[in-house]
Order: sequence, then structure tokens, then C-alpha cells
Amino acid sequence: MTQDEKKKAAGWAALEYVKPGTIVGVGTGSTVNHFIDALGSIKEKIDGAVSSSEASTEKLKSLGIDVFDLNEVDSLSVYVDGADEINPQNHMIKGGGAALTREKIVAAVAEKFICIVDDTKEVDVLGEFPLPVEVIPMARSYVARQLLKMGGDPVYREGCITDNGNVILDVYGLKITDPVALETQINAIVGVVTNGLFADRGADALLIGAESGVIKK
Ligand code: A5P
Repeated sequence: MTQDEKKKAAGWAALEYVKPGTIVGVGTGSTVNHFIDALGSIKEKIDGAVSSSEASTEKLKSLGIDVFDLNEVDSLSVYVDGADEINPQNHMIKGGGAALTREKIVAAVAEKFICIVDDTKEVDVLGEFPLPVEVIPMARSYVARQLLKMGGDPVYREGCITDNGNVILDVYGLKITDPVALETQINAIVGVVTNGLFADRGADALLIGAESGVIKK
């Protein structure tokens, strides 16, 4: 089984959490793209989607799924998204695709966060994948200096402008033993929009595409 086949298996398995007649929160990335294909197969049964990125919006619309502004929606029963790393407590690093801020906002509104990954994303301790931090452009150097003081090695993601018009610093070298505390600490730096730790609000359920099939945790 290839990595993409494992992502596809996890993406389609997430349909189980989609309630008919509801608006679905949709994440971003190659795993979510499979989930969007799956949603397309039941589009008559759902009321539409709220999207976390321009890329997902485009794909949803191309399949004939209505996309709503989050401000038009009172509640979301479920949010489905991938992750770059996930630990045994279902804390995640996200933002490899630069969509972390909108992802965190849509996830905050949803009653349930369903994380879909292939089995390469499971780790004991977060931090081998560089932690993305979305930053207001004029604060980039200041925020980088603060991240250095915290023991990280921030690298400017050249050529990447987020959907919100900001830039990304990828922070290498962090061994993240207290993800909840670090999420709060980095978000408190002036100029940071948000960081890619999803720990304060982790995943409520995890679907892992593996050689043996889809494992639920
Ligand atoms: C997008 O910004 C990310 O948070 C993605 O959810 C994450 O990078 C996982 O992406 P893949 O499903 O492409 O591995």
C-alpha cells in the first residue's frame, strides 16, 4: 500500500462521522483531498461545507458542494482535517500546507475534530516536523528572535504567503514535551497570528490509514 492509498483509506473512513443534513467543516491537504472526494459522493445528503483554505474551497466547489462563510453558520458538528504529526494524546502539529490559522478557527467552532492521517504521522514526541508559525509580515524578524530565545531554529518559508496575507516561520529543533504550554507561549509573542500546535484543542478521534486497514483511536 502506498502512503497516498493509506491517506485515501483514512479520508473515506471519515464519512462515518458526517451527519446527513449538516454543514461539514473541511480541512486542507492531500489527505483531506480524499475526504473531499468522499464528501462529493454524498453531496445530496449534506447541506454544504465550511472550508479552511482557498485550495479546499476550490475543490469543494468543483464537486458541486456549497461552501459557506463561517460567519453564516452557528455550529458545526464535525471538522475533518489531516496533520503533519500526532502524538498519543492526539495533540498535533499542523500547517505544513500553510493553512493553520483558518484550520484552527474552523476546528474551534466544531463539536468534534476528526483527524485523518497515514501511519507515518504518528510520533511519541512532537517536534521532528518543523513547527509552522504564521506571522504578520512586519514582525517576522522580531518573532524569529523570540523563537530563537525559546530554543527553536526558525526558518522563513520563502515564497509562501498565507490565505490571510501573512508569512510562515518553520521552527526546527523543538522537542515539544508540553504542547499545551508551548502553544500558549508562542501565541503570546506579539506579531504571531497563530502557531501550528493543536494541543489546547486536540483531535477527538483519529483515523489512521495503515497496511492492515484503517485504525481508529
Ligand atoms: C495544512 O496546512 C496542514 O495542516 C495539513 O493538514 C497537514 O499539513 C497535513 O497535510 P497532508 O494531508 O497533505 O499530509
